[in-house]
Amino acid sequence: MPTSQSEQLAAQIAGLIELRFGESCPVDAKLQGLDGLFRIADHRVKRHYTDQPVTHELIRMFCALALSSPSKSDLQQRDIVVLHDAKQRARIANFFPGDPWMAKAPVLLVFCGNNRRQRQLHTWRGIPFANDHLDPFFNAAVDAAIALGTFIAAAETVGLGCCPISVIRNHAEAVSDIIGLPDHVFPVAGMTVGWPAHHREISLRLPLKTTVHIDRFDDAAVREQVEGYDKRRHSVQPIRQQRDVAVHGEAQEYGWSEDKARQYAKPDRADFGAYVRSRGFKLY
Ligand SMILES: Cc1cc2nc3c(=O)[nH]c(=O)nc-3n(C[C@H](O)[C@H](O)[C@H](O)COP(=O)(O)O)c2cc1C
Repeated sequence: MPTSQSEQLAAQIAGLIELRFGESCPVDAKLQGLDGLFRIADHRVKRHYTDQPVTHELIRMFCALALSSPSKSDLQQRDIVVLHDAKQRARIANFFPGDPWMAKAPVLLVFCGNNRRQRQLHTWRGIPFANDHLDPFFNAAVDAAIALGTFIAAAETVGLGCCPISVIRNHAEAVSDIIGLPDHVFPVAGMTVGWPAHHREISLRLPLKTTVHIDRFDDAAVREQVEGYDKRRHSVQPIRQQRDVAVHGEAQEYGWSEDKARQYAKPDRADFGAYVRSRGFKLY
């Protein structure tokens, strides 16, 4: 039986990992920072918030922490647009009537990839920019995503709830215009932030044996592993509403793999490439 506080925390983290992945993973009670590790293991997105305001200072601090994360070649190709103004938030949320929680969130952020600043450096320094291809776009998107993940980890440490929002890219052009994004700056994801008004179950993940490869990528057993995950997830966290029943019918066994296959049976954001190219990227 765990006795000390750190032994209890280590046991709780191990329990969360076992629940999420269906695999055990020992957690050493002598590690430093178990509090922080517990918050990461306990992650779950939160979409509903209390009326308690989230101060500008707090958001600014989390932006600082998010932007303290690593950046490819120190290029710093990511920016965060913070929408404190309810009218600005509403202009964006109006495009997403199916996600009413977006409009109600006290803060909406947009994490952007920014390759514009790099191009400006070349103009200012009189040095040609010789990388007008896919990689700069990709680097900026990755930088923005790292900042987003770090923001969530930091904000959840103090009990804030967050939900990233890739659906803002369904209306990338309109969202970019509302928040004034110039060429070579593009939205990677939005994110709502607030003090959570609800407690969600943790979301189960594919097992570590499927997603962590030792020395060499190996997915020889992926199908049976995914089928096992479907069953485990269904027993703990069944998907309550089947997607597109009119097209695919009512499935007897409706697991994660069926849901994800149905999700991508229809095109999603097929116009995003055209949007990115319209914002100046060549992407070849
Ligand atoms: C890049 C990114 C984009 C996301 N976009 C949306 C979104 O548009 N709408 C939404 O409701 N959730 C969105 N999510 C939240 C995911 O649905 C959620 O992380 C996933 O279901 C797993 O749940 P969990 O984070 O609680 O473990 C997004 C998450 C990420 C990382």
